[in-house]
This record gives sequence, C-alpha cells and structure tokens, in this order.
Amino acid sequence: MTTKTTTITSAFSQEVTEGLTSFPKFLSSKYIYDKKGDKLFQDIMAMPTYYLTNCEFEIFETHKEAISKAFTDNEGFDLIELGAGDGKKTKVLLKHLIERGDTFAYLPIDISQNVLDGLKESVEREIPDIVIKPQQGTYFEVLEDVAGYNERKKVIMVLGSNIGNLLHPQAIDFLTNIQNAMTPGDLLYMGFDQKKNPQTILDAYNDPEGVTEAFNKNLLHRINNEMDADFNPDNFKHWEVYDPETGTAKSYLVSTKDQSVTIKSLDLKVDFTAWETIHTEISQKYDDNIVEWLASESGLEIVNEFSDSKAYYKNYLFKKK
Ligand code: AVJ
Repeated sequence: MTTKTTTITSAFSQEVTEGLTSFPKFLSSKYIYDKKGDKLFQDIMAMPTYYLTNCEFEIFETHKEAISKAFTDNEGFDLIELGAGDGKKTKVLLKHLIERGDTFAYLPIDISQNVLDGLKESVEREIPDIVIKPQQGTYFEVLEDVAGYNERKKVIMVLGSNIGNLLHPQAIDFLTNIQNAMTPGDLLYMGFDQKKNPQTILDAYNDPEGVTEAFNKNLLHRINNEMDADFNPDNFKHWEVYDPETGTAKSYLVSTKDQSVTIKSLDLKVDFTAWETIHTEISQKYDDNIVEWLASESGLEIVNEFSDSKAYYKNYLFKKK
C-alpha cells in the first residue's frame, strides 16, 4: 500500500519561497500585517512624520459637507469601505452623514475579523443611530459580492493610499475590478498620496525611533514563527529610497553581512552576501496626471477631488466612464 501525502502550501509559503530564491530577492508587504504588524501600523499612523493619516483626517474635517452631498441619494446609499481598519477618518464622515439625516448603510470590509469586531463596537458606541454591516474577506473576494448590491447607489471607499502598495499595472487591475463591480451612478472615493518634497516622503518611512524598521522586519519575525526559520533581524538594516521622477518609495531589508538562513518548514536554505537586499514594499506617490491616466486605463473618470491645505494628499471621486 502506498501512502500519498498531500502538502497544502499557503500563499504566504509559496511567495516566501519564490521571493527568497529569486534574484534580486523580494517579499510582499501584504504579509507584514499579523496582530503585531497591525499594531505597528497603528503606531506608524500616530507618528507626526507619517503625515498621510493627518492629511486625510483634515480632508474629511474640511470637506465633509461637500463629500456628503456627493455621496447622498434620495433612495439612500450603501457606503462600502475596503480595508476599513480603525475607522478613525471615516467616523468624521459617518457622524456628519447621520447629523444631516442621510439614509445609508456602512459596510466596512477588512481581512481581519479582529479589526472588524473592534470597529463595529466603537462605531455603534460613538454613532448610535448608524446601520453597520461588517464583512470579513480580501478585497478580491468581497468585490464579487459587492457587485450584487444593486438595490440602490453604492459608494466604494478606499482610504490611506493603500493603492500605493501596487505597481501601476496591478493598480489598474484593482481599479478595473472595482469599476466592474460598479453600475452607472455608483461612485469610487479613493485616497492617493501626492508627490512632494522628497525629504518629507523619506522622513515618513524612516523614523529615527525605528517603528517603520520594526514594521518592515515583522516579515522576518513572521517567517521565523510560522515557518520555523532562524532569521536574525538584527543582521538586516531597514533602508528607504524615493525616486522623485517615478514617485516610487521602496523599502528594503539589507543584509549587513554574509549569512545563511534556514527555513525548516520550507526545506530551504537561503544565502545572503553582505549588503544583499530584500525588497519588501512600494509606497507609490501620485500627481493628477498619473491618477487621470490610471482612471482612464480602468474605465473610470475623475468627477471631483479634495485636498488637504498643504496639498500633500488627495481624495479623488470617480464614476464609471
Ligand atoms: C498602508 C500601504 C498605505 O505604504 O504608506 C507605512 C504602509 N509602510 N509605513 C504606506 C506603510 C510603511 C502604508 N500603506
């Protein structure tokens, strides 16, 4: 008798194998976010040098009336937020919509059930009259369901310049998926961090306290914990570069010496030479021309835009072309 063993390999394992056996090496920033990674990102958002959060908060505070007017509809509407997180910025708008007496349901979507539970509790406590229906899942899974919500107008919201983790071709795929889930009259409201003084951008991803470094290195901790590996994170240096021409900020972990790492559960030994890199994240910065081009490649059209007072950050409103 023969015994067949089936190995179910997670997407994380597959991507770690691919990324660490490639040249140059890479890992995907989407795997930074476990419980500890979520907490480190919260800490990043609380740092003044990470201006993105405050800028988007200011946009909601300043433009909440205009934004509400653009969203609302006689029949009511569904406000669907992809990657809702702690809802700090969204709550400013939700409170205003309730004060105006607008009819809507808030449908926050997040990959983390933990995050959604916390969000539901705090939204219901702070905004008692709200209709909130959280849904757990990846953007991709949930967009398929969302396409079926056609009883009334939909507004899809993606904040935090989360799109910036995608290269332009992937961003176009993502926007096209959203566009396909929309019907005429629906809206997409999305945050895009803008090109600015390159030093300001570098400072946002290079805090001297080392919070961003710990966030980036959480990838190595996750591989150690989940794949029985022996990375010594102290033997890697967090390094950030920003290209003002393309608007691409890139994060790296740079090996400070010759070293070998064993990843037992992948049956993999990975050699690093001194100063060899692992590329971990891109944080794309935009201007109006790039956003117009991404929109038109995705079957979308910009109908309005809202900026903070320093013009560091913009929220664009799109409709189907
Ligand atoms: C959540 C993807 C928008 O790229 O600015 C923060 C993540 N990385 N500091 C970003 C992040 C380093 C963040 N996004």
